[in-house]
Amino acid sequence: MPQDTTADDESGNGTVALAFSGGLDTTVCVPILEEEYGYDDVIGVTVDVGQPAEEFAEAEETAEALGLEHYVVDAKEEFAALCMDGVRANATYQGYPLGTALARPVIASAILEVAEEHGCTGLAHGCTGKGNDQLRFEAVWRDSDMEVIAPIREMGLTREWEKEYAAERDLPVEGGNEGDWSIDTNLWSRSVEGKELEEPSYVPGEEIYEWTSAPSGETLELEIGFEDGYPVSLDGQATSPVDLVETLNETAGAYGVGRTDVMEDRMLGLKVRENYEHPAATVLLAAHEGLESLVLTKEERQFKTYVDQEWAEKGYEGLVNAPLVRALEGFIDETQERVTGTVTIRLEGGQARVVGRESPYAVYSAEAASFNTEDVMGGIEQNDATGVAKYHGFQERLANKVFDAAKARESAEAVTDGGTGDE
Ligand code: ARG
Repeated sequence: MPQDTTADDESGNGTVALAFSGGLDTTVCVPILEEEYGYDDVIGVTVDVGQPAEEFAEAEETAEALGLEHYVVDAKEEFAALCMDGVRANATYQGYPLGTALARPVIASAILEVAEEHGCTGLAHGCTGKGNDQLRFEAVWRDSDMEVIAPIREMGLTREWEKEYAAERDLPVEGGNEGDWSIDTNLWSRSVEGKELEEPSYVPGEEIYEWTSAPSGETLELEIGFEDGYPVSLDGQATSPVDLVETLNETAGAYGVGRTDVMEDRMLGLKVRENYEHPAATVLLAAHEGLESLVLTKEERQFKTYVDQEWAEKGYEGLVNAPLVRALEGFIDETQERVTGTVTIRLEGGQARVVGRESPYAVYSAEAASFNTEDVMGGIEQNDATGVAKYHGFQERLANKVFDAAKARESAEAVTDGGTGDE
């Protein structure tokens, strides 16, 4: 059944590029794209955004067994760069640092590029009709003239049906994590869903975690250096985003940092229980926010929470190229010019806590804040605050007085009415 991909018979719809992982869904898609959708050839594309090596081995082996022309594209650097933009935006969605979400537009663009190079006429993914990923992929792909195909969704396929189909046709699906949770891993996070975790009250054991150990009593201090809001060094050593994230996942993961269990509101409205591990993201997000707290003014910090929230929302939707995101990044760029400095983080009890920060841009005067100096700044004295203290709360005191008086009047009237009796 696997077709000879060198065939030049133009009888069908040409070549389709399939987002290929070697799992059950994308494996059954290969014959289906030829037989049900009339494509002459299928090429499989796996994009490297930092998955574990076994996943590439699985994709490679399955592709070979299927006779599928298979390409692997390394997009780790591009993906890590986008994650660093997420750090500048303190980006989380309902507590999750967007690992799966931010990876999708990177993967989709890389596949589109391969498809263009090979003169493909179609683009296909193995996502179901229930999740977010179908929307994130297609948001990128529908910008091209190629046909977009989602066999699992369009044919309403279930895992059970796919297993039978694969068995009937002797498709190579024996490997993989059949029966296990559904797992999505990349540089920025590892997510686990399905099986008993679908019950929100079910308390998972240690077995669902792979990147993080149960927190012990041990602690470790790390120093993260930032330039323009980008993390650039670890303990004084300059490092690339990919290396930094990989190292921190290991280091902070060993201290049990970066576990979240969320009831996630998906784009289509479904609530899904998700468990995530993201040690590096937790450390970098905490450190970044810690540095912002030193160098940004109160108003900038407050307003930036709205900007960050919108950035994260678009990130979750897979729409990082939206004009809104560019506009938000205009604000972010302006503020991050001062987010340069060093933050000390302590890993302790499964938490990453800021325990020190310094920057040449600190909006901070130890002299002014100190209890031991009289002069605040440029001739302002303690006693100058007396007038401010007299005014502070003026409106609230007046409002409460007016309200109390009105209440007293009302109850006095009620007593008088009661006294004269009813009509
Ligand atoms: N729900 C998350 C999201 O849409 C991640 C899902 C990851 N997939 C998985 N099989 N665990 O961003």
